[in-house]
Amino acid sequence: MTEITRRQFGKVAAATAALAGVSLPEFSPAQLPPGNRQFPPGFVWGCATAAYQIEGGVHEGGRGASVWDVFSHKPGKTFNGDTGDVADDSYHRYKEDVQLLKNLGVGAYRMSIAWPRIFPNGTGQPNQAGLDYYKRVLDELQQNGITPYVTLFHWDLPAALPGGWQSRATALAFADYAGYVARQLSDRVRHFMTTNEFACFTDLSYQTGQFAPGLRLPAAQVNQVRHHGILAHGLGVQAIRANAPAAEVGLAENATVCVPVIEDRANMEAARRATREESAPFLTTLLEGAYPDSYLRREGANAPHVEPGDMKAIGSRLDFVGLNVYAPTYVRADESARGYAKVPYPASYPHMASPWVYLGPECIYWAVRNVCEIWNPRAVFITENGCSAADVVTAAGRIEDIDRVMYLRNHLANLQRAAAEGFPVKGYFLWSLLDNFEWADGYSKRFGIHYVDFKTERRIPKLSAEWYRKVIAGNAVV
Ligand code: FCB
Repeated sequence: MTEITRRQFGKVAAATAALAGVSLPEFSPAQLPPGNRQFPPGFVWGCATAAYQIEGGVHEGGRGASVWDVFSHKPGKTFNGDTGDVADDSYHRYKEDVQLLKNLGVGAYRMSIAWPRIFPNGTGQPNQAGLDYYKRVLDELQQNGITPYVTLFHWDLPAALPGGWQSRATALAFADYAGYVARQLSDRVRHFMTTNEFACFTDLSYQTGQFAPGLRLPAAQVNQVRHHGILAHGLGVQAIRANAPAAEVGLAENATVCVPVIEDRANMEAARRATREESAPFLTTLLEGAYPDSYLRREGANAPHVEPGDMKAIGSRLDFVGLNVYAPTYVRADESARGYAKVPYPASYPHMASPWVYLGPECIYWAVRNVCEIWNPRAVFITENGCSAADVVTAAGRIEDIDRVMYLRNHLANLQRAAAEGFPVKGYFLWSLLDNFEWADGYSKRFGIHYVDFKTERRIPKLSAEWYRKVIAGNAVV
């Protein structure tokens, strides 16, 4: 008996049907019910980047050192000893990068400002040359019809600030910096995000030591670092509003995305509870204006020291919540007091090129839904979503990143579900416009929809860029 594979079976079935004179049904996307794949009118399409990951030019224009300059230059801290010294050289090539955005047809660009370009010492005298650089970038965007969404802190903390996020003074310094930038740039920028991903610049940086400054502190000190992070955000919101009253203010946060293992009532309820618990020291606290009791109980004597007025600032009203979404955390209902349990990934669970980018595209739907159902924000943006892939340039000079297209297409289909169900998701920023310095992974992981040859700095659009252009043009999943 000959065995046939499933693929062969498909071919046999098609051939049999053709022989029998039966034509296979034709499928055309246009036949789908109207609205099935469409995003709402006015949906914002964009790409995201961050200063240290793309700019290079670390000694130019009076820029001070950041903790990532110091950390990446220490032996053994990043893959291959890679640093952001040159990165994508976007400091010099920003006009070319704006053209990449324009060719995609995006309406928006999420970029970050390097604090040490504006205040080389973290506080004190601002640096005009640094500010002028961003004015040039913003003017270039404006001339090309692209709206900037600006993150004020994407991890490049000025190295000169004593104690970094261990010091409360850093939160105050951030507020001064945020207020100054808002005042100077409010004629060019309407959308500001305070911070990017608390857990990365607190836990990964001060608890596990994987990120700059690479410390491993005990729990009480880590909780204090976290507190200073969310305090910086809150004081930052106040400072931005005081200096740019028309600004829309939010943040970009990688809240754990809790996905019910089965979409039934008990597991969905568990995923909601888990969302609140897993983000306890960060998103939960700032959207509720108080640390959850369960968190304070759990941390006991290690809980953060809070000064009068802190919680009011931390709970400042936001115009939007930005969510960075990459991978699911599956949860199920559980008898425990918490009411949920996290289900570990089996060894066979698929992931993209970065081991942490587990595949589970419904996570983007649940990210939006859980956050909206728990906290009812006025608006939600996906401020990052994307994946790494093992891209290669073919002999024909192409990058056929069908795995990235698969990842993105499935995420967008699930985001479209959230929009169609009426959740207030207003826009999507793809991470990333171009391959760049991926923190501790250096240049070993490529997240861009434009390939960057790091020897020549040449940019080449990948298949995913072509695909994204069509998504944007049709305002629909394609
Ligand atoms: C996020 C970061 C971003 C980038 C992507 C891949 O956690 O915000 O800078 O590194 O992951």
